Amino acid sequence: MQDAFGHRISYLRISVTDRCNERCRYCMPQEEQAWFGSAEILSYDEMLRVLRVGVSLGISKVRITGGEPLTRPGIAQFCAQVAGMPGIEHVGLSTNGTWLGRPGQGGGTLADDLKRAGLASINISLDSLDRAAYQKVTGRDLLAEALAGIDAAFAAGFESVRLNCVLMKGHSESQIGPLIEFARVKGALLRFIELMPVSVTEVLGEDQFLSAGEAMRLAQAAAGELRPCPQFRTNGPAVYHELANGQRLGFIGAMTNLHFCESCNKLRLTSDGKLRPCLGSWLEFDLREALRGGADDAQLAQLILSVVERKPKEHDFRNNYQPNRRMIAIGG
Ligand code: GTP
Ligand code: 5AD
Ligand code: SF4
Repeated sequence: MQDAFGHRISYLRISVTDRCNERCRYCMPQEEQAWFGSAEILSYDEMLRVLRVGVSLGISKVRITGGEPLTRPGIAQFCAQVAGMPGIEHVGLSTNGTWLGRPGQGGGTLADDLKRAGLASINISLDSLDRAAYQKVTGRDLLAEALAGIDAAFAAGFESVRLNCVLMKGHSESQIGPLIEFARVKGALLRFIELMPVSVTEVLGEDQFLSAGEAMRLAQAAAGELRPCPQFRTNGPAVYHELANGQRLGFIGAMTNLHFCESCNKLRLTSDGKLRPCLGSWLEFDLREALRGGADDAQLAQLILSVVERKPKEHDFRNNYQPNRRMIAIGG
């Protein structure tokens, strides 16, 4: 699948729920906490059907997102079905990590269940190592659980554990050094993410925004010189730099990197059955009606291709973007 701008689409992010056990300031409007009703949410079978058709069109990588994906019952079995689908080469999951250390169904932790399900990578949000600061950002006092979740991911045998730190001025400056040290000790790949105006536009005020460039300077001040390593890439939009000791740091500069969208390879399926060609665009197209209205696979494939045809050249975040959907209901 290729769009009008030459983006080759191979990556589908599937948001399995809009619910979360945390309340991150940058992800959901604090005043509006309304979840989708159960009839609005696609069943796992409906999601698998969309994916199967997507695979026939060239999807080979999947990332499972939320809300918090681990809050949806049966998530490990769903991951196993995704990972076992012929044509799927890589399945990742993005989580706040707080439930990874909980008991799973196989006698170990939920992280163990996910490893057994065939997940290749886990990306865990970690904005802070300070308990009070973590609570301030996430609205929940769950730093200990998140850290236990990171340990559970390593204990389960995940080789690729990535940590996501969303940059916020007045908050992140003091966290960058400790997070780098923490990631080094754990052997995790740390990425710094520019705040995007999804859910709330205020996040882009001068007083909140910290650029990837500034984060890079702060990282160098804390940990020494960084060299670009363009040869190293993950499936997503992060660019990586390397410290003298070989530790890599990722930077996701969605706002300041004017080339950010050039290598975009993805579509997003929301838990209520919308297909979005871009995180930072108002465009979304309903698949649920087709799924529940008896469309056959060929019709679904046509629908997916028509969404790809309408994929924008780049996101709209720099144009006074007003969000039309909460980040928590897109999945990042
Ligand atoms: P991998 O590189 O495969 O680990 O995944 P990823 O970095 O794409 O996934 P993750 O869920 O960890 O997302 C990290 C951050 O990147 C989140 O803030 C996402 O919103 C952001 N992100 C991921 N893909 C895109 C994209 O296509 N566009 C924009 N604007 N942001 C993205
Ligand atoms: N801007 C940038 N990243 C965000 N995330 C959530 N909301 C935002 C935002 N407004 C990140 C989370 C998580 C990932 C899936 O998306 O930190 O790691
Ligand atoms: Fe792709 Fe849109 Fe993200 Fe740009 S903002 S990289 S076009 S999903």
